Amino acid sequence: MKKKLVTAHVGMKFGMAHVEGALQSGAEIAAICDCDPEALRAAGERYAIPEEKRITDYRRIAEDPDVEAVTVAVPDQQHAELTCALLRAGKHVLCEKPLALTREDAREIIRTADNAGRLCMVGQICRFTPAFEKAKQIVDSGEIGEIYYAESEYAHDYMYLVDNWRADPRRHGVIGGGCHAVDLLRWLVGDPTEVFAYGTHKLLPQVPYDDATIAVMKFGGGVIGKIFVSTGCKRDYTMRTLVYGTKGTLICDNTSPSMTLFVAGADGMAHEPQIIPVQVNNHNAAREFEVFADAIRGNKPLETDAREGAKTVEACLAIIESSASGKVVYPDYGF
Ligand SMILES: NC(=O)c1ccc[n+]([C@@H]2O[C@H](COP(=O)([O-])OP(=O)(O)OC[C@H]3O[C@@H](n4cnc5c(N)ncnc54)[C@H](O)[C@@H]3O)[C@@H](O)[C@H]2O)c1
Repeated sequence: MKKKLVTAHVGMKFGMAHVEGALQSGAEIAAICDCDPEALRAAGERYAIPEEKRITDYRRIAEDPDVEAVTVAVPDQQHAELTCALLRAGKHVLCEKPLALTREDAREIIRTADNAGRLCMVGQICRFTPAFEKAKQIVDSGEIGEIYYAESEYAHDYMYLVDNWRADPRRHGVIGGGCHAVDLLRWLVGDPTEVFAYGTHKLLPQVPYDDATIAVMKFGGGVIGKIFVSTGCKRDYTMRTLVYGTKGTLICDNTSPSMTLFVAGADGMAHEPQIIPVQVNNHNAAREFEVFADAIRGNKPLETDAREGAKTVEACLAIIESSASGKVVYPDYGF
């Protein structure tokens, strides 16, 4: 019989999605951890985790030789500290997005994972959203031809979410939430090579950064694109994403039960849209955890490893820097 993966999970708010993913994949949970006893109790009761497996200090996980894999869902500012400590202790780590808030922290995580010989996955969960998985399949199949333009937006009203660690200037909306849209474009069409951005600040006076940013960018091979991030928007949460190719166009998002595909016919025109049904699963933590577990078991290489997470951080920082300086920024992906 296949040995169960023994896991532990730190941060019991969004991190509960990782607990669910681990449970669904049949892992054995050795510990859940939160420094807030109330969050810990609520998660423990919800998933019937016994008292002795509920801990408030993540360092106890590092010391537990039975734990193979750990998920980290604490405030972004702490990703590097916890991830590195757990990697050094010989654990495989699934760290929430964004991998880090600075290039230095991203580099430190990569270095530590390399030295420890352990896997570090970044939780760019949109890569497991069914509509986006399908979009990737269509783009890679060549069905819409050569891509010449792509755009993605991250529109999410943070009005009641930012009275905490999210109000840190280092946690600019473009990296905090916008990293989802940036990572999606990187995945679908490649790394942006040039970035120019504008920002504005009209909705969230409580944060020390722009709450809306637009970036235009160049990719390799003559592809151009756009990112829009609004963290104060008055609308439902969306990550609407469009990919334009020489033979067709794809329109999709994270919350709709279908996506739209136009493909040019024999006359070169795209007349009728194809409506493709997709499952709505915006936080597909079960699939994300399965990919992590598969990589640990050596079944499949890890696509969203620390280097991949660092490249998304780099592209986000380039957008933030361009918006602040008014200059074109050329991201450096040499991680
Ligand atoms: N993938 C997604 O779509 C998605 C969605 C939401 C949040 N996130 C990410 O998940 C992470 C957590 O976000 P959240 O919304 O759950 O934040 P939160 O502030 O709601 O919860 C964080 C939890 O971590 C605990 N915590 C903080 N420091 C800790 C430490 N050192 N040890 C143990 N517990 C600690 C807190 O007590 C709290 O319960 C962030 O990195 C965030 O960017 C990702």
